[in-house]
Amino acid sequence: MPGVPAGHVRIFDTTLRDGEQAPGAGLTAAEKLEVARQLVRLKVDVIEAGFPAASEGDFEAVRRIALETRGGIGVAALARCRDGDPQRAIEAIKGAERPHLHVFIATSDIHLKHKLRIDRTTALKEAVKWAAYGRKMLGADAEIEFSAEDASRTDIDYLMQVYEAVVEAGASTINIPDTVGYAIPSEFGALVRRAVDLVGRDATVSVHCHNDLGLATANTLAAVQNGARQVEVTINGLGERAGNASLEEVVMALRTRPTQFPDLVSRVQTEQITAASRLVSYLTGFAVQPNKAIVGANAFAHESGIHQDGVIKNPLTYEIMTPQSVGLTGSQLTIGKLSGRRGLQQKMRDLGHEVTGTALDDLYTAAIALADAKKEVTDADLLALIEQRAAEVPSSVVLSGWNVTSSHEGKAAGSVSISVEGITRSADATGNGPVDALFRAVDDTLQPALGWHPVLTEYEIKAVSAGEDAQGQVLVRCRRSSDEGPGALVVSGHGLHTNIIEASLGAYLVAVNKLHGAEINGVSAGFVSPRAAEDLP
Ligand code: KIV
Ligand code: ZN
Repeated sequence: MPGVPAGHVRIFDTTLRDGEQAPGAGLTAAEKLEVARQLVRLKVDVIEAGFPAASEGDFEAVRRIALETRGGIGVAALARCRDGDPQRAIEAIKGAERPHLHVFIATSDIHLKHKLRIDRTTALKEAVKWAAYGRKMLGADAEIEFSAEDASRTDIDYLMQVYEAVVEAGASTINIPDTVGYAIPSEFGALVRRAVDLVGRDATVSVHCHNDLGLATANTLAAVQNGARQVEVTINGLGERAGNASLEEVVMALRTRPTQFPDLVSRVQTEQITAASRLVSYLTGFAVQPNKAIVGANAFAHESGIHQDGVIKNPLTYEIMTPQSVGLTGSQLTIGKLSGRRGLQQKMRDLGHEVTGTALDDLYTAAIALADAKKEVTDADLLALIEQRAAEVPSSVVLSGWNVTSSHEGKAAGSVSISVEGITRSADATGNGPVDALFRAVDDTLQPALGWHPVLTEYEIKAVSAGEDAQGQVLVRCRRSSDEGPGALVVSGHGLHTNIIEASLGAYLVAVNKLHGAEINGVSAGFVSPRAAEDLP
């Protein structure tokens, strides 16, 4: 039977659905699978894998995650209360060990009048219809969740009427979204209490808080104190606009302040939090702000003398949780040219990654090559290598060589050779620096071969570790020159190398291959493009 065991707060992770709706955070289906695997290691209770009706790519990603995810973890798919959506969502999750259908419709007058252009009675009827449909199609054991979009701005008596009716129709979870991040903890807690008193015996009450006023975590915790037993959260607080309540903040608050949440725990393996945060940040290209709670680079750094003195004497003086509890380890094993596979495997385990088989062989080869190129292979280097592998894409456009000259005040001149589906082409170009010259040369080889060239919309470079021999990590975002306007597909690409020009070209070519793959298969085949749906929450 669906439901949440007593004493448990169900962690519903929506990084792959709401998180991915953040503009520019789009992931390929393969990248979504990588994140889902990390969420399994993190032991969330439910993975909301996507919105299958939004695109073929999202359908496929949800279907694959549903088939692969085991260990008692639910796989949820979102659907509007509209013919076609729930059917598509059910099709995508039917292979899951624990299918979780999530249907939603807006209930606030603002949304009903201006967005859906329907009245309250119609919205109520649709909600009941699709909750009942989900129950009928998926059977008694499945989780059927109903969300009243913009609940916190909905007339409260009407909202309660809707919740009562959907539970009667078969919903086993009712979700209270603070869609626009408008609620204040005390009032949100009271709203949750009212829903718990009304339907809490027959259904799980869930909350879904956005962070527009910076209150998403506070509202979520107030909800738990008032009887909510499912919380919808994302890694790094990723999500539309200011994002969603962050998983790491909510989970660590539950763990660090147990007396505030008597007899309540989550089953999250908190030592996996850092690895999850890094992976999501890397694949989406959304950097984590240094002062972000729990996962920011400074979250456990102590700069001032007084703090350092206190922490050396006893970490409890300034640390309310240990870095180890969120997976920040200062492991003693170092990796060098003479290290073995076993040592590398243990090191990766300490860093929160279980690497085996051919993945271990590949990582080992890359780590030893890196140990040849730089003095010391750091934890950050190894994490960068593993993340680079997670973001690999099938490549029909391959770089076979490049050359560049650049001097003080002069233009740079570069040439590249690139094979496009087996045919090698070369071009020369000049530019305002070596990277610009080479990117232009890449564009000139691709235009005749593909009929478009990539248009760079963002370029970022950072050093993975300290020292002049550090690896450079490059992030680019690109669209096709033939694809303009607000709906254009924008993809990211990452490159990693001790030579920053190689890293830049690597990132550019990853983006090219993603764009090319999307073009061959139709935008939707490899890519998740949830913004295609016009009335996403
Ligand atoms: O923010 C929102 O209202 C949503 C719902 C679909 C849960 O994302
Ligand atoms: Zn949302």
